[in-house]
Amino acid sequence: MHNSAFSHAGYNGIYLAFKVKEIEKAISGIKALGIKGAGITIPHKVKAMQFLDEIDETAAKIGAVNTIVNRQGKITGYNFDSIGAVKALKEKTGINNKTVAILGAGGAARAVGYGIIAEGGRLIILNRTKDKGEKLAADLGSDFCHLEDFKKVKCDILINTTSLGMTPNLDQMPVEKKHLNKGMIVMDVVYNPLKTRLLSVAEDMGCTTIDGVSMFVFQGARQFELWTGKKAPVDLMRKTVLKALSCSS
Ligand code: ATR
Repeated sequence: MHNSAFSHAGYNGIYLAFKVKEIEKAISGIKALGIKGAGITIPHKVKAMQFLDEIDETAAKIGAVNTIVNRQGKITGYNFDSIGAVKALKEKTGINNKTVAILGAGGAARAVGYGIIAEGGRLIILNRTKDKGEKLAADLGSDFCHLEDFKKVKCDILINTTSLGMTPNLDQMPVEKKHLNKGMIVMDVVYNPLKTRLLSVAEDMGCTTIDGVSMFVFQGARQFELWTGKKAPVDLMRKTVLKALSCSS
């Protein structure tokens, strides 16, 4: 995604993947090598924060970073997962005053939940593990409900942030079909597969669905703009991701 965007924009850069074992040393290496920026992903999004020189306000509130930029040796962390999710939702729906149920209470739920609250949505966190769900709900100032009690929840928008349904567990879905209704907007942050079982069932019921690629591409577009100072070629980035996913499935 980034390399096709760099080449399209005539930007002299390359994006490479590293399976990092020691995040502190990796960040020192970024400084030492003069690497201009990096995407940070699981499992380093929280731990990386303590090794940065500066953290953007949104990332500090979310409590995780997914992007860093190196400005003359000073490393600043950002989190674009939240804005990515909001933009993906806003392609299909407003958020203000909508009741939004988020399934899961990990890093993705934290970033997406922050975005929902910032946009004026009424948030309910549903999680399998009560303590973790309650903690996130308290941090975000939202309600909490046990995942098993989803049937009692009435929501306009449902967002899955758990890994249920992700390859290779294609048959899993986080809630039962009978508890969905066709007025719901259903989003999945899982993008491998593109159409998870949850999205497929929701689509059959007539729900509006949003797959995980939109969020992934929108956060990537913000990364691109931060690193290059140029406008991101969003459509090209989306096409590149879709092509890569269809090749790998
Ligand atoms: P991420 O940073 O991608 O959000 P994570 O921090 O590992 O990943 O969070 C994964 C979330 O998916 C958690 O809320 C987890 O629930 P628990 O807090 O109970 O562990 C949820 N999850 C993962 N597998 C699950 C399963 N089989 N059933 C229900 N929830 C599950």
